[in-house]
Amino acid sequence: MPKCTIDGKSIEFQPGTNLIEVARTAGIDIPFYCYHPAMSVVAQCRMCAVEIEGMPKLQTACSTVATDGMVVKTTSDRAKSNQKSVMEFLLINHPLDCSICDKSGECDLQDFSYTYGSDKMRYEEQRRTFVDEDMGPMIKKNMNRCIHCTRCIRFGAEIVKKPEIVAVQRGNHTEIVTVDNKPLTTEYAGNYADICPTGSLTIKDFRFKKRVWFLKKTASVCEGCSTGCNMDLSAEKGTLYRCNPRENMEINKYWLCDEGRFNFHYVNDPKRTAVPVARSAGQMQEVTWAAAVQKAQSVAQGKKAQVLVGSDLTQEEAQAIVAFGKALNAPVSHFGTAGVKTTADDTAIDSLLRRKSKTSNLHGMEKLGIAPFAGGSADVTFVFRGGRAQLPELKGSAIGVGVFFADDLKAFDVVLPGLSFAEKDGTIVNFQGKEQRLKAAIPPVGISKPLKEILTLWEGARA
Ligand code: SF4
Ligand code: SF4
Ligand code: FES
Repeated sequence: MPKCTIDGKSIEFQPGTNLIEVARTAGIDIPFYCYHPAMSVVAQCRMCAVEIEGMPKLQTACSTVATDGMVVKTTSDRAKSNQKSVMEFLLINHPLDCSICDKSGECDLQDFSYTYGSDKMRYEEQRRTFVDEDMGPMIKKNMNRCIHCTRCIRFGAEIVKKPEIVAVQRGNHTEIVTVDNKPLTTEYAGNYADICPTGSLTIKDFRFKKRVWFLKKTASVCEGCSTGCNMDLSAEKGTLYRCNPRENMEINKYWLCDEGRFNFHYVNDPKRTAVPVARSAGQMQEVTWAAAVQKAQSVAQGKKAQVLVGSDLTQEEAQAIVAFGKALNAPVSHFGTAGVKTTADDTAIDSLLRRKSKTSNLHGMEKLGIAPFAGGSADVTFVFRGGRAQLPELKGSAIGVGVFFADDLKAFDVVLPGLSFAEKDGTIVNFQGKEQRLKAAIPPVGISKPLKEILTLWEGARA
């Protein structure tokens, strides 16, 4: 393999790799704004300029491919002086906004200003100012903070193939706008806020909700469809505040769709049934766990039963439910998305990530040999569900185990509250057959219990 030298370190590299990426493999960070590994290289911000032996001028590391024997200096006086100058230039119009900016704490502009910038500013002119504007239902724009890196323009044009954002005017008047000021229509709008290196594009749903340094991140997986995009769940004190993409080059690369990103709101929804409830005199009433399990057993006593397992549950839960069904001598089948019964129905919705199965573990259900629900009825139906699976029409008595909401309760005699994807660990299988792990980000909501504990209570009450 060819080798180059960066800051005195000899580094092997794959031919065709740019200097930012080569340096990164050796733990050397070259600061950059406009570069993004998934998008075309435009070399606009000039922040990444480095000194290369034999070249009279500084070269942008994002647009320079490493060559064998190349000697690069990223911390020479000339490189440092450029970084300081670029920072001063980018900040001439930037407000002193960090204290009220959602990006604060994870902002490249803030971090690089501290590491590479200067504590002095020579600019004495009036700063340009804009009012905050909506860019559709997901994104709010603050143009005062924009550094014109054009990542947003390229994301629309190159990644989602919907060129909805453009730059208008020139120089100091340059402004990032949607075409004809129309709302963004992409299903992937949240990514605009992720890729913006400043707080210019913020997610309306998260705006001013929480300072990011209070949030604890848990590496988990989206449950929004069978793609299984990797995500970080950010929570504080038992409440989820946001989900962000976690890089996985084999599945979601750097992205999430909006449906998956904002799906988490049901977890802390006040309409969620987070205590056991049982029907009494036609009304659902809150009861103790012991009373709920007893009621469920009396509802099921001596009746022909069937068991439905939501394809939003994990492999471990599904296996336990199959064993439960066997003990009851009841058939077990899976349900999840209207019109998607088997993996053959689970095709792609677009060319980026989204798929038809609106549950994460349809492929895992087939792997376990569980048949799809064909619409049969029984005297009593046990419905196990994680929160995403769409409930089928139920006839006769019904016992719900898992995540249900106030509007679901009319179909049930008893509900034993279980855990959502954010409250448990477990394995799910995506459409490529990849097994991935869900990780608990928050403790159980209300007095919900893990499925294993609910089944133990059931067994104990029968003994
Ligand atoms: S809005 Fe953000 S991503 Fe778009 S050009 Fe400005 S700084 Fe870059
Ligand atoms: S594509 Fe599917 S798995 Fe990925 S973020 Fe969207 S809903 Fe979640
Ligand atoms: S990252 Fe190289 S010029 Fe912007």
